[in-house]
Amino acid sequence: MRYLIGVDIGTSGTKTVLFDENGNKIRSKTVEYPMYQPKNGWAEQNPEDWYNAVYETLKFVSEGIENENDKICGIGLSGQMHGLVMLDKDGEVIRPSIIWCDQRTEKECEEITNLVGKERLIEITANPALTGFTASKILWVRNNEPENYAKCAKILLPKDYIRYRLTGVFATEVSDASGMQLLDVPNRCWSDEILEKLSIDKSLLATVYESVEVTGKVTGIGILEGVPVVGGAGDNAAAAVGSGVVESGKAFTTIGTSGVVYAHTDKPVIDKGGRVHTFCCAVPNKWHVMGVTQGAGLSLKWFRTNFAENLNYKEIDALAESVKIGAESLIYLPYLMGERTPHLDPNARGVFFGISAMHEKKHFLRAVMEGVTYSLRDCLEVLKEMDIPLSDMVAVGGGGTSALWREMLCGTFNLSVKTIEAGEGPALGVAILAGVGTGIYPSVEDACRKLIKFTEPHKPQNVEEYEKYYRIFASIYPQLKSIYKTL
Ligand code: XUL
Repeated sequence: MRYLIGVDIGTSGTKTVLFDENGNKIRSKTVEYPMYQPKNGWAEQNPEDWYNAVYETLKFVSEGIENENDKICGIGLSGQMHGLVMLDKDGEVIRPSIIWCDQRTEKECEEITNLVGKERLIEITANPALTGFTASKILWVRNNEPENYAKCAKILLPKDYIRYRLTGVFATEVSDASGMQLLDVPNRCWSDEILEKLSIDKSLLATVYESVEVTGKVTGIGILEGVPVVGGAGDNAAAAVGSGVVESGKAFTTIGTSGVVYAHTDKPVIDKGGRVHTFCCAVPNKWHVMGVTQGAGLSLKWFRTNFAENLNYKEIDALAESVKIGAESLIYLPYLMGERTPHLDPNARGVFFGISAMHEKKHFLRAVMEGVTYSLRDCLEVLKEMDIPLSDMVAVGGGGTSALWREMLCGTFNLSVKTIEAGEGPALGVAILAGVGTGIYPSVEDACRKLIKFTEPHKPQNVEEYEKYYRIFASIYPQLKSIYKTL
């Protein structure tokens, strides 16, 4: 039997899964690690934590595949996007990684817009300057830690740093590179113009591949010697492959640490207001557009850690389900780490609106889950405005596995939503990419059609009720916008 490995280097942990060539999950392991928040709105992680987690999980899933007829044919890497990893000339990490949800770079975003021009920036990178993206993080280090910038010989994204540790190769691929704001997204290559205007030396960057291309082979780590590693994909582009969203007309929504509404497009479709991201996707020469809410699963995890530590997620679902829609008029805005779609506001912060003495923990839990769902509805609204077809929708991540969250999504979106029978999301997605790159499958689309099985769609219910509370939710941010900045 031939096997493939998918590695997903997420924000809360790394999940590695071994699949057989028929897409069956054989072994899986997750190792968690911390996120550090040295200041309000900052978020960093230690790349060594990622590597240790990847090594431990790879070792675990690959053990036992020793029979001479069994072979691990390829590895695909996926992971959190946008994070900045800087290496010195000896390949050593210079400072902790500034990750995707860090909001410290508002000034640098202005600097980028001034240097490139707002319209030109969107024309080339398909997105406005955003605090989440890598370019502003690079400029922040240059502006605030010149000694670190001077030492920098290579800039990598999180999963590409892992690739470097596994293979010794400096490579990235188009989907993740799209989130650096240095890529010419329509033409799928580094933009000389942007690099020149931002005075970033191209030699700092890795070679860009398509997601299915082999970028190198595992070497010198004591396990999996010689196994090819393909480009892989950023977590959302990988989840798209893992949920069969690889053709026009298909879309998915996910609740991981962040929350996303994602649609496949055959052409680079751009929102002129920059409220949603347009990136290359993992299917060669195709794109996607997605709205992102920063604090989705992150909100529930934050609430649980601080106020409900004794509850597991099943118990949380049960408590939240015991409360009526609207949580007795308690509304939550999930902007713990600022917000992207649709507000593009690094200064936004979380809100519980309408707290009453009658509210208990269960109301807060329900309000958090609903608030995240309403925020995803904001993403959906922008995609609808752009005339992107959204009726073929899959729910993945936490939103896909929690029956209650699924019910909230269907009702709030007023859409039927499917899930995947054996959903492994990004890990399956990049394992499929590894299978295409090593010749096991003829194409991404073909593999998805063969391997991914859906459940019957869940029909929307309680649409009017959800609509009522969504309207209240949507009216709160505009009234807080100016005071957020003062805060
Ligand atoms: C996408 C984004 C997040 C991260 C973490 O733009 O920032 O989805 O990839 O999951």
